[in-house]
Amino acid sequence: MRNRPLEGQSALVTGANSGIGEAVARCFAGAGAKVVINYISRPEAADAIVEDIKRGGNEAIALSADVSNEDEVKAMYGAMFKRYGTIDILCANAGIQLDSPLVDMTLAKWNTVLAVNLTGQFLCAREAAREFIRRGVRPEISAAAGKIICMSSVHQDIPWAGHANYAASKGGIHMLMQTIAQELAPHKVRVNAIAPGAIQTPINRAAWATPDALSRLLTLIPDQRIGQPVDIGRAAVWLASDDSDYVQGTTLFVDGGMTLYPGFATGG
Ligand code: BGC
Repeated sequence: MRNRPLEGQSALVTGANSGIGEAVARCFAGAGAKVVINYISRPEAADAIVEDIKRGGNEAIALSADVSNEDEVKAMYGAMFKRYGTIDILCANAGIQLDSPLVDMTLAKWNTVLAVNLTGQFLCAREAAREFIRRGVRPEISAAAGKIICMSSVHQDIPWAGHANYAASKGGIHMLMQTIAQELAPHKVRVNAIAPGAIQTPINRAAWATPDALSRLLTLIPDQRIGQPVDIGRAAVWLASDDSDYVQGTTLFVDGGMTLYPGFATGG
């Protein structure tokens, strides 16, 4: 892999002011991309990441938008194009959990999770695809007209009691990703997903914050360690770069083996 495989490209990472999104944004910047740090809350965290990226000699801006709001998504893209001219890479990462047993789940909890996690990816992918198709390939920049990386989860495959809204959103992302990959491939746009396992971020703090919780979590992870955000950032750089030019419509599981049915290591 070239040292700065994303040099000269501009990237949008949604939900980039913490956790996995932050790591993807930092890795993209380190790989040479100009990065838009999208956020919805805590602007100071987004600004601090931008400053840090700039101190490292790279380029970033922070833009606020609720990814489930069509007007805000369009305005964000407008601001990005004004600043960087175009988009080469979208990492549709913004996601939330609002957990509840099914019988207690309010419609509001269902709708909010589906709106952010699934509709948000649709809205952001649609705006990116419009620009990729309008602009086409610039061979000196990338072999592709554009790259979309959908942040999914092991829960696109693994059922998860108490998280029906979240698991349904991730199952939806899987089919959204494959369908738009098929649809956009003739335009030289690549669409893929990353399915992280348990990555140590605020979203799953309860699963790793105490030694007890962590040791229970590790029974689900053959590699015997919780993932770090940079594990996902590195995978995203590869999927965004021309090193993966023939990779289309696939999901890259980055999960320390969580999807290998760890219970069967000793049973069955
Ligand atoms: C969830 C985390 C969870 C992990 C593995 C992720 O998609 O957001 O809360 O720890 O899947 O179960």
